[in-house]
Amino acid sequence: MQKRVVLAYSGGLDTSVAIRWLAQQGYEVIAATVDVGEQQKNLDAVAEKALRVGAVDARVIDAKTEFCEEFLVPAIAANALYQGRYPLATALARPLIARHLCRIADESGAEAISHGCTGKGNDQVRFDVAIETLRPGTRIIAPAREWGLTREEEIAYAQEHGIPVEATVQSPFSVDANLWGRSVEGGVLEDPWQAPPEECYAWTKSPKLATSEELLVSFAGGVPVALGGDELPLPALIAQAAQAAGSAGVGRIDLLEDRLVGIKSREIYEAPAAVALIAAHQELEFLTLPRELLQHKTSIEQAFAQVVYNGQWFSPLRAALSAYLRETQQAVTGEVRLALAHGQAVATGRRSPQAVYDQSLATYSAGDRFDHTAAVGFITIYGMQSQAYAKAQSKAKATAHAG
Ligand code: ARG
Repeated sequence: MQKRVVLAYSGGLDTSVAIRWLAQQGYEVIAATVDVGEQQKNLDAVAEKALRVGAVDARVIDAKTEFCEEFLVPAIAANALYQGRYPLATALARPLIARHLCRIADESGAEAISHGCTGKGNDQVRFDVAIETLRPGTRIIAPAREWGLTREEEIAYAQEHGIPVEATVQSPFSVDANLWGRSVEGGVLEDPWQAPPEECYAWTKSPKLATSEELLVSFAGGVPVALGGDELPLPALIAQAAQAAGSAGVGRIDLLEDRLVGIKSREIYEAPAAVALIAAHQELEFLTLPRELLQHKTSIEQAFAQVVYNGQWFSPLRAALSAYLRETQQAVTGEVRLALAHGQAVATGRRSPQAVYDQSLATYSAGDRFDHTAAVGFITIYGMQSQAYAKAQSKAKATAHAG
């Protein structure tokens, strides 16, 4: 029987060339396109192209709901932002894609799995670590890491083999996109001094031309469940939030980033839904979680973002962090009103049946229930050690002077 390989196929030039290259190595290629919600892409046409270019089978897997429930829900709970800014769209989707590749490899008896990542990025690490963890013994083939073709040689190879190139070569940028955001790099963006040109954006209006709107987001147990009072399944909710926030210019991120492999790179992200929903979620946490939990949780949030970025989704550490995060979200139920304007998402109101905020404790007006006399004893104890230290210091100084 001929050897078989499952290839993560996007329809772009790299993975199209990879189909032909793998076939030349004697493989039967099964192209797998995992739909994690990239807009404006006709996935049937992608599958057709895979077959035309030489795959023996082409599958499209709708993984949008799975992506939301299993990957984005914990990311929202973690307010997950790598380096404080990047909502991790690409990083969150890779382990899910890898899992589908492994499943298809099992079902079709493939000995190998292939992806189009180069040897310079994080994505190769995310794919390889996930595949090695989920399906030990699989042969992993990353043609772009092995063949050493320049862009020009790749195009020549494609033309020679009748692989369509036009549409893919036109874009000067390398783009990866899913429901949670778009990642854009390459071309003029490689000069970190150059301002990103308007063409690198597709989901957001320039904040200068943006409209302003208000968005009411409802959460149940840390999960966004409704927009403007209308309940929506998560994939639809995220798409709608992206629309609203994108029109207001929210979610443009220009990041000089540290890759796991040690390279610094400049990437532009567009993540209107992620930026708006995380802002709303965090605001609701401020209302519903006690101070000590909020403070402690920030360290877990950072650890979670790091682990996801570094391709350790299928690690026991990530599972443990997710369990912690899940435990914290029970009370995160309620509504946040966001003002979306001039590229910013700002909370202007929050309410919850589980608020820790208590107006009768906070008020300066009638109805105050706070026992003011209790403050005095608290302050005595709270300041005790600083006072004692200051006293000891001044005594030591006085003794030194006297001596
Ligand atoms: N730097 C981002 C990450 O490591 C995105 C990588 C893919 N970007 C791209 N433009 N193809 O998660």
